[in-house]
Amino acid sequence: MLSYDEADKLLKAHGQVHILNGFDRLTAEQQAGLLSQIGDLDFDVLAEAGRQGGVSHGLLSPMEAVDTGEIASRRGEFEAVGKKAIAEGKVAALLLAGGMGTRLGLDRPKGELNVGENRTLYLFECLVNNLKRVADSCGTVIPLYIMTSEKNDADTRAFFKEHLFFGYPEDRVHFFVQQMAAAVDYDGKLLLEGPGRLATSPNGNGGWFASLKKAGFLTEIHRSGIEWINIFAVDNPLQQICDPVFVGATILSGAESGSKVIRKNSPDEKLGVLCRDDGKPSIVEYYEMTPEMQTERTADGELAYAFGVILNYLFRVDALERIVDRKLPVHVVEKKIPYMDADGKLVQPEKENGYKFETLVVDMIRMMNDTLAFEVVREKEFAPIKNLHGRDSLDSSRELMKKNGFRL
Ligand code: UTP
Repeated sequence: MLSYDEADKLLKAHGQVHILNGFDRLTAEQQAGLLSQIGDLDFDVLAEAGRQGGVSHGLLSPMEAVDTGEIASRRGEFEAVGKKAIAEGKVAALLLAGGMGTRLGLDRPKGELNVGENRTLYLFECLVNNLKRVADSCGTVIPLYIMTSEKNDADTRAFFKEHLFFGYPEDRVHFFVQQMAAAVDYDGKLLLEGPGRLATSPNGNGGWFASLKKAGFLTEIHRSGIEWINIFAVDNPLQQICDPVFVGATILSGAESGSKVIRKNSPDEKLGVLCRDDGKPSIVEYYEMTPEMQTERTADGELAYAFGVILNYLFRVDALERIVDRKLPVHVVEKKIPYMDADGKLVQPEKENGYKFETLVVDMIRMMNDTLAFEVVREKEFAPIKNLHGRDSLDSSRELMKKNGFRL
């Protein structure tokens, strides 16, 4: 751990020494905590505060997908291969649940959201039910890894325990905590969220494999023969997890990853689109697309850049291990960051007041040699809950769930 003098020197060199104001008034434990947080800071990342834009691209070109027509005609073949791999214990599920869900405005983990109307049906419960259905159909139990963050780990574990893991075998569910990153105000200055505690937030969903490794789970993954990991978001109750057809199609394609995609419903829909970047798989965000790219059509009149990603990916474990030590690009996101003011009072800002720094799963796809784009029907598998009302909301998700036969 850094000494006070070392921390002082380091912070002065980076214009962040205000963080040590009042250091003398902290308890010994708080002082040690702060010095340890300072030692972990990545000043290169903090220097990115205020930077606009995404990653840089090379020559972009469209990517073909295995579309719903082809999937329908080869369903049996794909499904048999996927079910066999799952039954042999080669596939694990990994839930990304470390996000803050700030747009929903909950002070609990997002998966605790009740999507029911006349009954209680939690998001976590929907996801476990979806996984259980597949596992049962393959005559096995699929290991489930759950990534939480320091902010919601205890609550998430307690919730699963209280609800008896929604009927899933507890010994096959493994929690691990993702890393945090310091947040800064609009001037790039570090903030405190409490006495001797830097304001931090989860470091994005791109760090999931590094965090899984750090938590020591790789040995167990190798020992149990897991070759594939299907990662998925916490906020889409309709998604199919470890879908045998998707798993089988990816294995048969020979690609080291697979990405579930939906067909865009309009050229300007706000979805990250799967494409090729200098021949490698890549995702171009909607705001990075030129109007020409958005509207380009194939000879059949279809959108050339037609397939948007839905945060449901399958990765081969050996490919993940190959890239785990490579640095992912850092994305700078404006956020509401609670902080302690000069009088020591905690302020909950009503609007965005600074930046947090995240790495994203989409950038892992860019590091893969290939990915199979696998088209799913939006109305059946994509009902994300980002907001309470409006687009991608609890309201729109409930509507879709009902259309899919859910009794809410
Ligand atoms: P979102 O991009 O929707 O972020 O995450 P969020 O933090 O949940 O919500 P907002 O933006 O604050 O409203 C997509 C998925 O990635 C996970 C989320 O839990 C969700 O499943 N995620 C996100 C993490 O696991 N860790 C992170 O640091 C960020």
